Amino acid sequence: MDKLIVTGGFPLKGQVRISGAKNAALPLMAAAILAESPLKLTNLPALGDLLTMGRLLRFMGGQVELGRLNANEAELDLTGLARPEAPHELVKTMRASALVLGPLLARLGRAKVSLPGGCAIGVRPIDLHLKALQAMGAIFDLSGGDIVARAPEGGLQGAEIRFENVTVTGTENVMMAATLAQGRTVLANAAREPEVVDTGQALRAMGARLTGLGTDTIIIDGVSSLKGASYEVMPDRIEAGTLLAAVALAGGEITLLGFPHEALATVLAKLRATGLTLTPQGPDLVARAPATLMAADVITQPHPGFPTDMQAQFMAMMTAARGTSVITETIFENRFMHVGELRRLGANISLEGRTAVVRGVESLSGAPLTASDLRASASLVLASLAARGESQIHRVYHLDRGYEGLDRKLSSLGASIQRVKA
Ligand code: EPZ
Repeated sequence: MDKLIVTGGFPLKGQVRISGAKNAALPLMAAAILAESPLKLTNLPALGDLLTMGRLLRFMGGQVELGRLNANEAELDLTGLARPEAPHELVKTMRASALVLGPLLARLGRAKVSLPGGCAIGVRPIDLHLKALQAMGAIFDLSGGDIVARAPEGGLQGAEIRFENVTVTGTENVMMAATLAQGRTVLANAAREPEVVDTGQALRAMGARLTGLGTDTIIIDGVSSLKGASYEVMPDRIEAGTLLAAVALAGGEITLLGFPHEALATVLAKLRATGLTLTPQGPDLVARAPATLMAADVITQPHPGFPTDMQAQFMAMMTAARGTSVITETIFENRFMHVGELRRLGANISLEGRTAVVRGVESLSGAPLTASDLRASASLVLASLAARGESQIHRVYHLDRGYEGLDRKLSSLGASIQRVKA
C-alpha cells in the first residue's frame, strides 16, 4: 500500500484544472445499461471507483475500454449485457455499485445485486432505494446476502414516490429505472445535488423525458427505449472544495481552472467567512489565503446546504483557525473518523455525538497518520500541509478511490508531497 510523505510549510501557487465529478460519473456509467447503443462519456476522472464500476459493467458482459479511462473518456457498450449481476467482491469495495439495480430492472426486468454492507462512515443501507422500486412493482428476495430482484410482467410501472429521507444515489437509481417504466413517476423529496442534475441531463440526451431536475420533485415519463449519446461529465465540486481548503491551510494563491461556481455556492460563502479571498475569473476561480484563518461554524445538509463530503476538509481548516468552530454532521452517523488522526497532529477537537467542537491551535506538528475513508484521508493530507515538519499518511488507496492524483496536483502547486510506492 502506497504512502504519502508530506512536509508542511510550503505555500501554494500556480494553477490546476478541476477533474470530472466522480459522483456524477458513477451513475452515468450505470446509465449505459439503459441504452440500446453505446454511451460515450468525456471529462471522466481517472480514479479507483470508476475502474471498479468499469470492471462491474464488464463482468455483466458490457464493453468498456478501461484503458481509455486514463484519457478521461470511455465508450460504454452494454448492448451485449448478458449477466445482470453485481457480485459481493465488487460491491463490497464500492457501495455505489447499487446504482446498477434500477437500470437492470428497467432494461432486463431482473437483477442480482449483493446487498452493500456498511462502510467506515456508517451503516448506509439502501432500504429507500428498494421501497421506491417496490412501489414501481419490483419484487425483491434476499438470499445469501444478494438482493434477487424482478420487475412485474409488463415491466416497471410509474408511481408516485416520496422518499422518507433525501438520498442521492436513491434518487439517481429510481430516476434511471423510471425512464423505461410504463407511465409517469413522480419522485417527491428527491435529492437536488448537482450530480443528480448531471445524471438527469445525460438521461435526457439519451431520449428520456424528465423535468424538475435540481428541485425536490422530479417527474419522469417512461419511454420505450433510450439510445446512446455523448456526454461531458460536470467538474468535481468536492475536488474543487478540497483544493480551496488546501490553499487555506498551506497559504498562497492558486487558480482553479474549470471551476463549478454555482454547485459550490454554499461552500464559497462559508470559505469567505474564514477569510479566503475568492475571485471568479470567467470559468476559473482565483483563491488567496489570509494570513490567519478565522473560525466558522458548519452544519452539513443535503444540497443546496453545506455538503457532508466537505465536512472533513473544513474541519482540517478549523484546526488551524483562530477561534472555535462547531461542526455538526447531520447526514452520516459516523463521519468523524478523521478526528482521532487530526488530534495526532496536535488538533484540539472534542466530540459530542454528531457535533465536533474544534478549538484552533497556534500550530500543528507532523506525525504518522492512517487514512480511514475517502474524505478523511483528504483532510489528513490538507492538515499535514500546515503542520510543522514531516507527516506520513498510510493507506492512501482510500484517497485514490475518489481523487484523480490529488497528491500530484498539490505538488504541482508547490506542496512538498512524495508518494512512496509500497
Ligand atoms: C452519495 O452517497 C455520495 N456518493 C456520497 O459521497 C455522499 O456523501 C452522499 O451521497 C451524501 O451527499 C455517491 O454519489 C456515489 P445518501 P449515498 O443515500 O447516495 C441514509 C464521497 O465521499 N440512507 O444520500 O450513498 C444513509 O445511510 C461519497 O464521494 C438510508 O438510510 O448517500 C445516509 O445516512 C461518500 N437508506 C443518508 O441516508 C437508503 O436507502 C444519506 O445517504 C439510502 C440512504
